[in-house]
Amino acid sequence: MQTSRFLVTGGSQGIGAAIVALARTAGHEVVFTGRNEQLIEKVAQETGAHGLRADVSVGDDNARAVDACRERMGGIDVLINNAGYAYRAEIGNLDVDAMRRMFDTNVFGLVDITNRVVPLMKSQGLGDIVNIASTSGMKGAATGTPYGASKWAVRGISQCWQAELRPHGIRVTCVCPSEVQTNFGGNVGRNNPNKLYAEDIGETIMAALTMPRRALWPELAVFANNPWKED
Ligand SMILES: NC(=O)c1ccc[n+]([C@@H]2O[C@H](COP(=O)([O-])OP(=O)(O)OC[C@H]3O[C@@H](n4cnc5c(N)ncnc54)[C@H](OP(=O)(O)O)[C@@H]3O)[C@@H](O)[C@H]2O)c1
Repeated sequence: MQTSRFLVTGGSQGIGAAIVALARTAGHEVVFTGRNEQLIEKVAQETGAHGLRADVSVGDDNARAVDACRERMGGIDVLINNAGYAYRAEIGNLDVDAMRRMFDTNVFGLVDITNRVVPLMKSQGLGDIVNIASTSGMKGAATGTPYGASKWAVRGISQCWQAELRPHGIRVTCVCPSEVQTNFGGNVGRNNPNKLYAEDIGETIMAALTMPRRALWPELAVFANNPWKED
């Protein structure tokens, strides 16, 4: 891959921070967002990427993030839509407002920032958009109504964008990780060393991005490949 200009949402920790680090190591320019000032500063110092405090559920923050990319890098070649979190609850005992708030980040935030980036990519005739969904968006599970629905939505949205953007040379790839050891959901059930690491997802994404531009990988799932028992 030639040197590219990355915008990574939610790059202050976890999978996003791993992508920021790998992209920088590969020589790319990177702007990333997050909300936690200290974490943003730490990743920025460690990687040399430009960190920005911006909440993806806030339209003005997304406008600021895209402006920062224009000013610092002159554009965006790769958008990694990674910012997200999980609210889980069983139907019958579900806080619909909490579900709506989560959709503001996982779904509407992702749509809003991409809506601002796509005109830039169209004018370049080139771009990559990577949407981080989840295996929770591939198979329903108990308590999965809010989070699973948001990730099913991301998969569906990705297919729509593929149909719309392929003619413009813009590739859209949807990535569905299984459980990854990050602070996601307070690390619940993810402290098993046999589960995936953030770097595993980052490496997979970087590999997908290095395919010839003729080749589009529309969706990929990543599971831990372990010859062992569940938990
Ligand atoms: N870990 C897993 O098992 C797993 C599995 C499948 C899919 N995923 C998906 O992978 C993505 C990354 O998760 P992760 O495991 O790396 O979680 P994480 O360690 O909790 O990191 C989440 C990142 O997203 C940022 N973020 C959250 N809400 C945001 C918002 N409204 N605006 C801007 N940034 C926001 C956080 O920033 P701050 O901390 O600065 O607020 C943080 O940098 C998510 O979309 C998640 O759904 C995770």
